[in-house]
Amino acid sequence: MTQMGNQKIRLGIIYGGKSSEHEVSLRTAMSIMQAVDANKYEVTPVYVQLDGSWVTGERLTGQLPDKIEALRLSAKTPAITEATETGQELAVTSKSGSLFAMNEQMDVVFPVVHGPFGEDGTIQGLLELANIPYVGTGVMASAVGMDKWMMKTVFAQAGLPQVKYVGLLRSQWEKGQDDVMDRIERDLGYPCFVKPANMGSSVGINKAKNREELKHALEVAAKFDRRLIVEEFVQARELEIGVLGNEELMTSVVGEVIAAKEFYDYEAKYKGAGTELSIPAIVPGHVSEQIAEIAKQAFQALDGSGLSRVDFFWDEKNDKLYINEVNTMPGFTPFSMYPMLFQAAGVSYSELIDRLVQLAIERHADKGRNVVDAEELE
Ligand SMILES: Nc1ncnc2c1ncn2[C@@H]1O[C@H](COP(=O)(O)OP(=O)(O)O)[C@@H](O)[C@H]1O
Ligand SMILES: [Mg+2]
Repeated sequence: MTQMGNQKIRLGIIYGGKSSEHEVSLRTAMSIMQAVDANKYEVTPVYVQLDGSWVTGERLTGQLPDKIEALRLSAKTPAITEATETGQELAVTSKSGSLFAMNEQMDVVFPVVHGPFGEDGTIQGLLELANIPYVGTGVMASAVGMDKWMMKTVFAQAGLPQVKYVGLLRSQWEKGQDDVMDRIERDLGYPCFVKPANMGSSVGINKAKNREELKHALEVAAKFDRRLIVEEFVQARELEIGVLGNEELMTSVVGEVIAAKEFYDYEAKYKGAGTELSIPAIVPGHVSEQIAEIAKQAFQALDGSGLSRVDFFWDEKNDKLYINEVNTMPGFTPFSMYPMLFQAAGVSYSELIDRLVQLAIERHADKGRNVVDAEELE
């Protein structure tokens, strides 16, 4: 690690956020705080409240919070005192966070904020402006990875196999419903999947088996975003792989998501309603090899950095593989797919955090090599 002498790495964790994945983010932040080696890191919690305001806590020395509630910092209650199981007291003193003061207080930041305003490049942009190294994907790859339509365009350009799709704007749908549905029936047929381009967590996604259901699905998706995606349905197994690195990439083992419900929706994902993860996935060698290869190509096509989980559909009957999506800030509790895939590949949860922090510092340093003023060259 880039520790100078005995100096610890001052790690900021940004969590919470203005999205439906707020609670998941809290759980992730808690897991990371508990996993990092206190001899190597000093953690500062940075909480983004549901309304979007930021609250920075005091650096956590001593006992770590062991209850999610301790992480809900509030500017109105300047000191939250949390009695821990051991009877020791933890004071998480909070104050309104000034982003630009962060680069004096933190060496590196781990933004564990999912969904819109989290993994869509907005937080990444703030961290670029503040000139702080941060874990994960940069602005462009985050933004492209968040927009299913744009992501598919990049995959197509890179020649990656994917399901047939139609991208459209809400305004097109509102102006000519029948034209839009005619086009979808002609190009894709039924069943098809309708998705808002920008949500994640299966929010606003519906399967349509006929024109009536298609109309409903488009109406629902159009409530969430102005950009919509409709895809052909594939009867397939859902396989996922982790990618770790900046330019030299490591892939994890392949895992499978086995959803008891018709598709892997929000309930299944976060309430664990009958969803099983199978790690490693029981698939032929050529399938996992192809997945690793395509995952790296997708990561590079987006100019990824740090981490991504790349999701696939595998039509077993026809042995056809399709890339579904790249998640640039995948679920990251110790029981989430991404960390478990790397655990199975021999990289423990705390090692994974170490590697990600290191990659963040390296990428920031590499960027620092860029000449900003051409006159410097003369
Ligand atoms: N084209 C498709 N064919 C079959 N199932 C699909 C298709 N697209 C999505 N699904 C199902 O819906 C789930 C959520 O879709 P996905 O595009 O991964 O959205 P999210 O970004 O919310 O994870 C998938 O995990 C899968 O179960
Ligand atoms: Mg998905």
